[in-house]
Amino acid sequence: MGPEALRVAGLAEALRERGLTVIDRGNLSGPVNPWLPPVDGYRHIDEVVHWNRVTMDAVYLSLGRGELPILLGGDHCLGIGSITAVARYCREKGKTLRVLWLDAHADFNTHEVTPSGNVHGMPVSCLCGLGPKALTELGGSAPAVRPEAFRQIGIRSVDAGEKKLVKEYGLDIYDMRYIDEIGMKKAMEEALEGVDDNTHLHVSFDVDFLDPAIAPGVGTTVPGGPNYREAQLVMEMIADAGHVGSIDIVELNPAFDEHNKTAQLAVDLVESLFGKSTLMRD
Ligand code: ARG
Ligand code: MN
Ligand code: MN
Ligand code: MN
Repeated sequence: MGPEALRVAGLAEALRERGLTVIDRGNLSGPVNPWLPPVDGYRHIDEVVHWNRVTMDAVYLSLGRGELPILLGGDHCLGIGSITAVARYCREKGKTLRVLWLDAHADFNTHEVTPSGNVHGMPVSCLCGLGPKALTELGGSAPAVRPEAFRQIGIRSVDAGEKKLVKEYGLDIYDMRYIDEIGMKKAMEEALEGVDDNTHLHVSFDVDFLDPAIAPGVGTTVPGGPNYREAQLVMEMIADAGHVGSIDIVELNPAFDEHNKTAQLAVDLVESLFGKSTLMRD
C-alpha cells in the first residue's frame, strides 16, 4: 500500500512541477506476504529473496537507462536489492558510492541476534556481507558495499546484539543523541563530507526516520526523531551537496496513517531533496 499512498499524495506530479521527467513504471510483482513466524531467524526468506531479485533487476535497468530510480516500498529489506544494483552500477562506472541511511534503526541485525526475524532489520548487514548467501551475493560476490560507504542518520533504536556488530563493523552513525548535541546542520555536514563530482549518493529513506508525531504511518515507530524542520534541513542539505543518483522511500504504511499525512510529508521532503526551497534560495 505504500507506493499507492505516495502516488495518491502526488509524488510524480510534485517532481514534474520541479521540471523533472517522471516515469512511473508501476508495481513490481512477486509473492504475497505469508505472515509466518521466523524459521532459522528469518521471516519469509524465500519471498524476501524473490522480491530483492526483482528489485535489483529493476533498479539496475533504470540506472543503465541513465535514470534516477526512486524505489517505493514496501519493506526496507528491499534496500538490499536496490543498493546491490546501485553498487554494481557504481563499480562499472568507477563511481564512489555513498549511502545516506535515514532511519530510526540501524538495520544491522543478523539471524543470530534479531529480536524479530524481520529482514527489514538486516539490510545494512546483508549489504556488508553478513547474512544468507542468497541475499549477500545477490549481485555476484559479497560484500556488495563496504561499511565505510554508509552514513546512518537519525538512529535511536539499536538492539543489544546489533549494537556490538555495528561497533565491530565501524559503521558511521549519527544517532539522535549526537544530533541533539551538535545539531542537524553540523551532523549533515559531517555525513556529506568528502562528497565530490565522482560520488553517487544513494538516499535510503526509511519513513520511520521521522518523529512519529509528524509521521505516524509506519510499522515501527520510535519516539524522538527529527521534527519537520530538521527533516527538511536534511533533505535541503543533501540537495545542496548534489550527486543524488538513486533513492528508496520505504516502510510507509498507510494503514497506520492519518488521512495520508505521512505520505504527503514524504512527498514534501522528496521535493526538498530535489531542490525545492523557501525564499532563502532560488
Ligand atoms: N531492530 C528491529 C528488528 O530487527 C526493528 C527494525 C526495524 N527496521 C525497519 N526497517 N523498520 O526487528
Ligand atoms: Mn518493514
Ligand atoms: Mn526503521
Ligand atoms: Mn529501516
